[in-house]
Amino acid sequence: NWPKSVTIKEVGPRDGLQNEKLILSTSDKIAWIDRLSYTGLTYLEITSFVHPKWIPQLADAVEVAQNINRNPSVTYAALVPNMKGLESALSCSVDEVSVFISASETHNKQNINKTISETFPILQEVIAAAINEGKTVRGYISTVFGCPYEGDVDYNQAFRICEKLFTMGISEISLGDTIGVASPRQVEDFLNQALKLYQPQSFAMHFHDTRGMALANIVKALDYGISTFDSSLGGLGGCPYAPGASGNVATDDLVHMFEKMNIHTGVNEGALVDSALFVQKKINKPLPSHRMAMYSHS
Ligand code: HMG
Ligand code: MG
Repeated sequence: NWPKSVTIKEVGPRDGLQNEKLILSTSDKIAWIDRLSYTGLTYLEITSFVHPKWIPQLADAVEVAQNINRNPSVTYAALVPNMKGLESALSCSVDEVSVFISASETHNKQNINKTISETFPILQEVIAAAINEGKTVRGYISTVFGCPYEGDVDYNQAFRICEKLFTMGISEISLGDTIGVASPRQVEDFLNQALKLYQPQSFAMHFHDTRGMALANIVKALDYGISTFDSSLGGLGGCPYAPGASGNVATDDLVHMFEKMNIHTGVNEGALVDSALFVQKKINKPLPSHRMAMYSHS
């Protein structure tokens, strides 16, 4: 009973670039996002409106968001941590904003300098203001399956946050395996509990591929009817405030797997590879995906 089609949310321009030593120029970011806009992907997370000292790689968020060529079939989204970030995002008319919080106290503090309980009122204000401006709001929960500082995380932590965020008006929660520790068994245990409370359509899964288990975890999530997955082209990515985190599951590998499983993605694999070759050249190192290993980097 796998879904017949899935939605892939490309987070490469945000999650993919935020952990790279080499900072792409603003014009290269724009050119890459414009290419991604014509691959058939319908959702692009293009940047984040966070403090430039915390994430210097995305300090040009406003310029990027203002200068991309918008394809009307694509939702352009961005991460915002607080009202200041939301105001910037609204000033350049992103379609959707994403707020973020961690299931583990230490990662939340390291990442956004607040405790989990201090974060709730901030998110509440951001979500209400964004909805008031006619935006949809997505919520990320990080470290759902494990934390780089605390190790195992009680799933009840995530469930408690889910309840709060849905009550605040979030349209979808993306469950983050921030450091790529989840196994299919954990995904099964988590979703067995979560889907007693919520519909599969309420969730997206956001797997980093640190230990090579992301595709296996995604197939397990498909078994439960989950049909939205975050990924990053070529497998770029990671959170600088989560030591050891490597890239997201690669969009190119994910699309390939779904197509082989007769699950529709709407994505053109050729256009995706072109877009990956473009960013590989700009980032000046081989992209880690399986698909891109077929192409030599020069
Ligand atoms: P803070 O220092 O506690 O902020 O940082 P503050 O509220 O005390 O303000 C201090 C200064 O920052 C002030 O400026 C504010 O105006 C300014 P001053 O008055 O000193 O001149 N400021 C801002 N500037 C620009 N944009 C803003 C902003 N907010 C305040 N939005 C803060 C708190 C949240 C800002 C900081 O910790 C931060 O930017 N953190 C972002 C960290 C981050 O981006 N991490 C990666 C994304 S999360 C992720 O990757 C996980 C995910 O992929 C899912 C998964 O894999 O699990 C989503
Ligand atoms: Mg991530």
